[in-house]
Amino acid sequence: MRVVKSVVEMQHEADRLRVEGKHIGLVPTMGYLHNGHLQLIEQAKRMCDAVIVSMFVNPTQFGPKEDFERYPRDFERDKSLALRSEVDFLFNPETKDMYVPDYGTYVEEQEASHILEGKIRPTHFRGVATVVAKLLNICKPHIAVFGQKDAQQVFIIKKMVRDLNFDVSVFVAPIVREADGLAMSSRNVYLSPEERANATVLHESLKYAEKKIKDGERNVKNLQSQMQQMIRSKGAPSVDYVAVIDPEMFRETDTITKPTVLVALAVRFGSTRLIDNALISTE
Ligand code: PAJ
Repeated sequence: MRVVKSVVEMQHEADRLRVEGKHIGLVPTMGYLHNGHLQLIEQAKRMCDAVIVSMFVNPTQFGPKEDFERYPRDFERDKSLALRSEVDFLFNPETKDMYVPDYGTYVEEQEASHILEGKIRPTHFRGVATVVAKLLNICKPHIAVFGQKDAQQVFIIKKMVRDLNFDVSVFVAPIVREADGLAMSSRNVYLSPEERANATVLHESLKYAEKKIKDGERNVKNLQSQMQQMIRSKGAPSVDYVAVIDPEMFRETDTITKPTVLVALAVRFGSTRLIDNALISTE
């Protein structure tokens, strides 16, 4: 495994791989790898000849009051996990090289970026779209792999790739969960033992929603209030949103009419914000 820090060197390596006829897979991450990330890497390895994992805590996707400074980082641990996963390249650029001092170009999707996560984190998806566009230009992958855990992110990246004609296929891998159902996340380490125990209610509430929808519930307000009640019964978390989304348009809906809906939620346990979602077939 090669660790590459330089943007230009990564571009040259990507060119070399392409000349050799290699199919390149990219797995963008912010590091602090867990099994969710490792499954994306395994997926990329199944589809590609050479796998690049990018590891970059991207400052432009964090708001001024968010956890950029305290976002968990452990490069040596990440490096040994990537090595064990037989990653070919670990791209770990410096912030000053990704964002030069007079940096001034951003990519912004205009619609889906402003609901749900985007309402609470107004510049978040602009930062995500910008860094992913940069990573695609640097690593030149044929396939980029993302996790369904961040469903809104996936929608926006797919739309950006389509709108700006990036020559890449986006592959979406399923959510990887702990044994008790909690979706794996680098931020789970922030949870106190009590919050960690209560946080299983997120997945439980999504399972509950699935059962209700399959049993015929079509009224979103009913579903939301039942899910919120269930979540609030565990400790005193604050629910940022529980939403039912048309996954094709990524718009909130009041009545369930589509064959598949996305139920997405964001909940704060203390200062830790967790998101989760489920794609639910309504038939
Ligand atoms: P990060 O949170 O590190 O996640 C990297 C990738 O891992 C994302 O595609 C995310 O959806 C996926 N992932 C995280 N937890 C997962 C889980 N439990 N199951 C399956 N996939 C999971 O998402 C980002 O970084 C950044 O926004 C990034 C795209 C790298 C841009 O900076």
